[in-house]
This record gives sequence, structure tokens and C-alpha cells, in this order.
Amino acid sequence: MTTTTKGEEEEESSEQVVTPWDVSAGADGKIDYAKLVREFGCSEIDENLIERIERCTKTKAHPFLRRGLFFAHRELDEIVSAYEKGEKFYLYTGRGPSSESLHLGHLVPFQFTKWLQDAFKVPLVIQLTDDEKFLWKDLQLEDCRRLARENAKDIAACGFNPETTFIFADASYMCSSFYVNMVKIAKCVTFNQAKGIFGFTGDSNIGQIGFPPVQAAPSFPDCFPHMFGMNKKSLKCLIPCAIDQDPYFRMTRDVSHRIGGYKPALVESRFFPALKGESGKMSASDPTSAIYVTDTAKEIKNKINKHAFSGGGATIEEQRENGANLEVDVPWKWLNFFLEDDEKLKEIGEKYGSGEMLTGEIKQILVDVLTPMVEEHQKRRALVTDEVLDVYFNPTKTPKVFLDLFREYEEMEFGKWEKKKGGGDSENDDLCAALEEKMKLEGATENEEGCAIGAPKSEDWLRIRKERMQRDAPTEGSKSALKKAAKIKAAAEKKAAEKAAKAAARGEAAT
Ligand code: TRP
Repeated sequence: MTTTTKGEEEEESSEQVVTPWDVSAGADGKIDYAKLVREFGCSEIDENLIERIERCTKTKAHPFLRRGLFFAHRELDEIVSAYEKGEKFYLYTGRGPSSESLHLGHLVPFQFTKWLQDAFKVPLVIQLTDDEKFLWKDLQLEDCRRLARENAKDIAACGFNPETTFIFADASYMCSSFYVNMVKIAKCVTFNQAKGIFGFTGDSNIGQIGFPPVQAAPSFPDCFPHMFGMNKKSLKCLIPCAIDQDPYFRMTRDVSHRIGGYKPALVESRFFPALKGESGKMSASDPTSAIYVTDTAKEIKNKINKHAFSGGGATIEEQRENGANLEVDVPWKWLNFFLEDDEKLKEIGEKYGSGEMLTGEIKQILVDVLTPMVEEHQKRRALVTDEVLDVYFNPTKTPKVFLDLFREYEEMEFGKWEKKKGGGDSENDDLCAALEEKMKLEGATENEEGCAIGAPKSEDWLRIRKERMQRDAPTEGSKSALKKAAKIKAAAEKKAAEKAAKAAARGEAAT
């Protein structure tokens, strides 16, 4: 099951350690990502794949993708191939709520997920593992549950569409369809395998040992019957995450076929380097090791000036003479994450690397990039009231917007179906009625009809939909749906144009 053999693990334990709960760099203080890819058995993302994503989404790749910060994947190419043919998927990501507020590193997967959601126009589920943090940390469950909701405000502030995004905390959402997936997954993994994948020992509490299926289950769409219906293969799943989460999903992928689901695809990031130097993740227990989304402009400035690990020369003379070591320089690395302007970034790298630019200068540039970003986040977070949050957490929301999002695809599917059928309706009313009855028994609602929107449709499903469309005044229905879709699209385009104009104005002001 695991890709490392016992011997390899022992040999490498003196070097870097990367598990979902423990990340430490090797002796040289660096994470060897190529080695991780090899050990975990995932693939590197190449130029060709990035180009295909740009082409099929008609969107310029996010800087995290262009700059190799999201660098590894599992079957992302297959998700893209299916998407090119018109098939949709859903996104799944998450967070373990162990601190009051998020730091910049925590924002990385969410910013990227937001981009994926907008570019591919797909639904998203976000898991908050309050149970995981309770089991691993010295925290009360009630505190973890409260933190989940607090953290959700910061996540929502990243700008996810509340109508296509479902946020849930494990201890609150756990429902029958979720639990059913969990037990099925759990039965496929032996304790020995779990030890191999996660490093459990005899001292691990049995809640920890039993936890991996909780994180695995949302990879299957039938955990969310209100969004995706009851069919485990109704939609494929793509998971953006940091590479330390790979073990969970390696396990998930290993059991997928045995429980009748698709393997989830993954797109995986490097770690966001700690302020004091790259040795893995930032530590929540050392407030000077990170910049929090709650920090003030003054705190940001102080932390960067005092604590940001510099690869620059020890003295001005040395810096002018030798330039900075960009390999270890934290301001440079952070700019790679958050400075959007490729040209500017390149120029800074050249000047700072050659010694023309001093450490104080690059730190100032970083302060100027982060301060407005954090302030904007704080403004957006203040708008996330409890009522707004309830929309994200609502476990009964019907996928109305999905219908609009996927309208185009649906019509294409109907077109194909009609062509294949060769017109001339030879309906079988009895069969239709029986199928509808079956779906009702399975708990599907009118809207879902037992199959997620955007998923490959069966012949039966298409026939039922077709008949229903005709029966229920199809012209009116599709007209209003199309109108609504056009309205949503126009609003989104307007917003994007405004954002672009603002960004351009900001760019000009800064140069
Ligand atoms: N275990 C993750 C953490 O501690 C949270 C998480 C749950 C997650 N499901 C996920 C992360 C899916 C990425 C993708 O942060």
C-alpha cells in the first residue's frame, strides 16, 4: 500500500520527515521535493499540463502554478482530459482548525482553490477537521468546534462563491452517507498498512488510528447527497492540498475501486517557508515565526524586518560584492508567492541576487506587498457575519446555481443523446416510472435526480430529464435558467474587470 519500504524509511528517518502531522527538513535545512515526489509516487506538473489547463479554462495560470509552488499531482492530467471533453468535477480541500487565526501559509491552498473554482467553474467542499485537531492536540473538542467556525470566516474571506461552496466541520456534519463511506474505507485498510502510511504506534490513541477515513471520505461525492446525489461515481474529485496531506489520499486512492468510487485526483503544493527560514511549515506556537491575517501593518513591518531569514550578505559591502543567496532568502521566497507581477519579480531576483539591491530594500518591497493584502483580507473577513457563514454551512442547499453553471454542458449532453437516439421517441413509460421510483427510494431530490450535474449521464437519466423538461414547460424553464446564467456571468465579468482595473492601478502606483 505504501510506496516506501521499511528499509528506506529507516534509512531516511535521519533526514527529512514529512507526514500530515510532522514536517521537518533534512540535515541541510531544506525539503527535498524531488525526493518526496519519488517516495510518495506522485508526478511533477509540467509546462504542457499547465498550458492545457490554461487552454481549457481560457484563464491564465495562477502564479502558484506558473511558479511551480503547486508542483506535483496525481491524475490531474486525467481530470483535465475529461474536462476538455465537457465533463465537470468537484473540488475538495480542508483545514485542521487548531489556531484562532490563520497565517499566510494557511491562505495558500485556499487562494489556489478559489482560483481553481473560478477557472473551472466547479463546486467545492471544504472540510474542517475539528475532530482531527481534538485527537492530536491538547485541546477540548468544544474549542476545536469553535475554532472551526472562526477559521471558516477567514476561509470565506478568500472569496468563495457561497452558492457553490459547502463548508462543513466533521463533528457537526457527520451524517449517514458520510459515515457509510467511512466504514467502507476503514474496512479496506489494515492496522499494519495504517502504520506504514501514517507511522501510528502502540501509543497512538484509537481515535487517531481511526481518523484517516474521515479525511478520505469527502473524496467521494455521495458524502454530499444534497449537492451531488447518491451515486458514488456521479462526479470525479480534485483535491488541492499541501504535499504533507498526500498520505491520506494515497490511502484513499488505494481503496477507491474497492468501494466503487473514482480515485480522487490531487494537485499538491510545496510548503510555505517559515519567516525564520525554510525548515518546513510555520509553527502556530511561535507567533514570531509567522505573519497572521490578524496582524497590523506595524506588526507585519516589525516581523519582516526583525525575523525574516535573509540570504543577503552580512554587511552592505558583502551584499554588494556577492549578492544574496535566493535559495534560502525568505523575503524572496514570499514574494514568489504573493507578488503577482512576473516582470517585477524577475527584476527583483536579478537585482537582489547580484547585490544591486540590499536586504532592507527587498524587505520593504515585501512589506508593501503583504500589508495591503492582509488589510484587504481583514476587511473581507469583517463582512463574513454569522448569517453569511450559515449559507456556506447549510447542508440542505439545493444546487440551483450548479444547474446554471452546468447548463451548457447539460444541453450538449442532451444534444448528443438525441443524436444517438436518432429522434423518434419510443419512450418506455413504465421503465421511466420505475427509475424515478428507484431514485426516490435512494433519497435523491427533484433537483438531484440521483446524479450530479456535470457528471457523465446514463441513458436512463437523460431520458427522464428530457421528458421532464418537455413536460414542465421547457422553453420557459430553460429561458429563465439561461437568463440567470447570463446575469451571473455578466456580474462575474464586471467584477473581474473591476478587479483587474484596480490591480493595474495599484501596479502603476507602485512603480
Ligand atoms: N488534515 C488537514 C490539516 O490538518 C485538513 C484537511 C482535511 C485537508 N481534509 C483536507 C487538507 C483535504 C487538504 C485537503 O490541515
